[in-house]
Amino acid sequence: MRRAGLVVARALRDMTDAVQAGMTTHEVDAIAVEALAHAHATSNFLGYEPGFGIAPYPAVTCLSVNNEVVHGIPSQRVLHQGDLLSIDFGAIVEGLNGDAARSVIVPGQTGQSASTPETAARGRLNQATEASLWAGIGAARLGGTISDISSAVQRSLNRAGSYGIVRDFTGHGIGHHMHQDPDIPNYRTRGGAPIRQGMCLAIEPMATLGDDNVAILDDDWTVVTVDGSDAAHWENTITVTSRGLWVLTEEDGGQAMLERLGLPFGPLAD
Ligand code: MF3
Ligand code: CO
Repeated sequence: MRRAGLVVARALRDMTDAVQAGMTTHEVDAIAVEALAHAHATSNFLGYEPGFGIAPYPAVTCLSVNNEVVHGIPSQRVLHQGDLLSIDFGAIVEGLNGDAARSVIVPGQTGQSASTPETAARGRLNQATEASLWAGIGAARLGGTISDISSAVQRSLNRAGSYGIVRDFTGHGIGHHMHQDPDIPNYRTRGGAPIRQGMCLAIEPMATLGDDNVAILDDDWTVVTVDGSDAAHWENTITVTSRGLWVLTEEDGGQAMLERLGLPFGPLAD
């Protein structure tokens, strides 16, 4: 799981480092194709079939811009300075899955970031969504439950501002398959499965500048906000060891952020 997670973490860094105004989302996807080949890893997104007659997913990344929440399909769409881009990527190494996402404000071609009120609001949403991911990660502990994670994500977002929290898509267990039980909602639920040692969980809050209503476009995949508001999405695959938390899809295993948050970093090896 760590090997797959490292491939995902590094490719996400390659993509976030490269993104700038004027690129197409297809060009961003091509960076991930190259990263998979370089790592001798395979894609868990490409050809993914959720069933119900939905078309197989056609790319190795999901690239969702502005009012697109998740599952945007790479295309010839050109990115503009100040766009809010969610980059979601997964990989399989030795039969095991990694899955993670980062959102970024697209910088201009000279690297400067736009400072309009609109991009400032996008930036605040993005930071709040990232913080809610880490709040969820930090709530995972042996003896606790999945609902501890869900509640922590919701509480974090509610404290940060007046954001919509998407309910129609959730985080998930992960391992030999990308999507396994249990579902991990981003809002408070009752009960919830116990968190056991070595469980691997993909936590992935999706938040909007409007409400939580979403729709799926005719391409079968792209999830957009119904009110047209912008959305951010952050995801990491984590596991809980006897020693603490291990963020499998961060290059440092999550060490720096966990220490900053006063949480136990508990890798098995590296
Ligand atoms: N990372 C997204 C998730 O967790 C996944 C992908 S959809 C796919 O659900 F079809 F591209 F795989
Ligand atoms: Co996921």
